Amino acid sequence: MNDKSIIKVSDTVIRRLPKYRRCLEELLNRKVYQISSQDLSKIIGFTASQIRQDLNVFGGFGLKGFGYNVQDLYLQIEEILGIGSVYNTIIIGAGNLGQAIVNYTNFCRTGFLVKAMFDINPKFKGLRINDVKVIDAEFLKEYLEHVSIDIGIICTNKESAQEIAKILTEGGVKGIWNFAPVDLAAKENVIVENVHLSDSLYTLAYYINHPQDY
Ligand code: NAI
Repeated sequence: MNDKSIIKVSDTVIRRLPKYRRCLEELLNRKVYQISSQDLSKIIGFTASQIRQDLNVFGGFGLKGFGYNVQDLYLQIEEILGIGSVYNTIIIGAGNLGQAIVNYTNFCRTGFLVKAMFDINPKFKGLRINDVKVIDAEFLKEYLEHVSIDIGIICTNKESAQEIAKILTEGGVKGIWNFAPVDLAAKENVIVENVHLSDSLYTLAYYINHPQDY
């Protein structure tokens, strides 16, 4: 067996990859096609050695004396992240947040397609939001029996989130993107990503109050 296949990539490195992607995309928009790890370091805020270490985990990509080919690195990182594939998603909870997500077209552009939304509130009955149908949440289980969904996006209150996660898991989703204010535990090979915007906001508050630590 190839040694690389048994090395588990650290979560910290994986969580830095979207930032690399974002930075490289920005460089491409500015028509920068070649960059040294030192220059990339100045833009991205990681040290040059950190960048080399991170990218070495996946096989390097840089050339001594040349740096990185921005387009190639961007494409490699997209491939590593699995962006470019199509992911069928559904949103559970068609309130403020659910609607903000379905109306944000960039996710769709990168392959994350919202196939349907679900809500218990009858006021959504028959509605389409950004051309996506809102279905009565009572039919979520049945829907998952007929449609193959990769990612369930939970935008409900926290009390409902665990039960919804169970239905999604039993319905065969591969991942749950959870926005409800509860840390859902991963079960039965379903990857759970809990998102808390407030963590970021409160970190900002800390640095505003302790600028010396920034
Ligand atoms: P909202 O009240 O506008 O929408 C929630 C929707 O979920 C409602 O339409 C409701 O009918 C529906 N719902 C409740 N139980 C359901 C169930 N069992 N099945 C299907 N639909 C159900 O609330 P909003 O502002 O959209 O926030 C949604 C959730 O996201 C809240 O829990 C909020 O705390 C959380 N939130 C999390 C953020 C984060 O960073 N993680 C940021 C903003 C909100």
